[in-house]
Amino acid sequence: MTAATTTPLQSVLHPAGPDAAIIAHLSWVLFGGAALIFVAVMALMVIGLRSKGGRQVPARWWIAGAGIVFPVVVLSALLVWSTWRSADLSPQTSRGAMSIGVTAKMWWWEVRYHDPASGREVASANEIRIPAGRPVYIGLTSTDVIHSLWVPALNGKMDTVPGRVNGLTLQADKPGIYRGQCAEYCGEQHARMALHVIAMAPADFERWLANEAQPAKAPDNALVERGRAAFLEQRCQSCHTIRGVAEGSRLGPDLTHVGGRMHIAAGTLRNHRGSLAGWIADPQAIKPGARMPAALDIDGETLRALAVYLEQLK
Ligand code: CUA
Repeated sequence: MTAATTTPLQSVLHPAGPDAAIIAHLSWVLFGGAALIFVAVMALMVIGLRSKGGRQVPARWWIAGAGIVFPVVVLSALLVWSTWRSADLSPQTSRGAMSIGVTAKMWWWEVRYHDPASGREVASANEIRIPAGRPVYIGLTSTDVIHSLWVPALNGKMDTVPGRVNGLTLQADKPGIYRGQCAEYCGEQHARMALHVIAMAPADFERWLANEAQPAKAPDNALVERGRAAFLEQRCQSCHTIRGVAEGSRLGPDLTHVGGRMHIAAGTLRNHRGSLAGWIADPQAIKPGARMPAALDIDGETLRALAVYLEQLK
């Protein structure tokens, strides 16, 4: 599966997991029921406007029947049915499920995996990779304001609240790319706070996680070596970690394997050396208000080397 050949889907109308299917089913039944009642009320109105008197049903019967009995019966039935149907939604618990930590920040997503081989935490950004066909517990929090994670094809929304962890289960029936979006207004770049859930065949996922747990690969040519030096000269490590090069800061996305991601800047730009260079040179032109400062004093060749270095960190 390659990113370029699959269109990321962000749609409640195309559920791709068990919870999303239940939500879609509930929505369609409620929508269908509301449409039927609307049509019936409109039909009654037309009949009422066209009737020329004659034998009328007394008004109090209409009020009691259509105004009280009908809504009470219909709404009670829907309440019972939707409660019964919602009971099938996945429990929001990490017990028995794989667990991934997601921290929403202004305006990107930090994603942390537990590497079973080393026991270490492995950080990534703006992409949640999951094995297809099994439930994955997402532990959601925030470090600044309230955001909300919403991947419509996989489940409903869940808020991320500073100081607490909210759980959300994501399960994709089959491998694919499912687009998500911050669904709670969180400031200037709320609209550019997207992410992708990439569901992979379980064996592919395990291979990917094992690679992700490795430190960044060492430069294998002069240009890449120059790029790595530029990363340190420009003091990128004050916000970004590249494991094996400079570790510690979690202010910005972990870049250890940034070259393997589909997008940069939380779904804003396709990820390649051109967009990386443009983003480093002037992020404020692309995403005003983003926490990343521009590398104003960087010359063209160094910028190119830095972008090439980041691109090959796969
Ligand atoms: Cu984060 Cu809206």
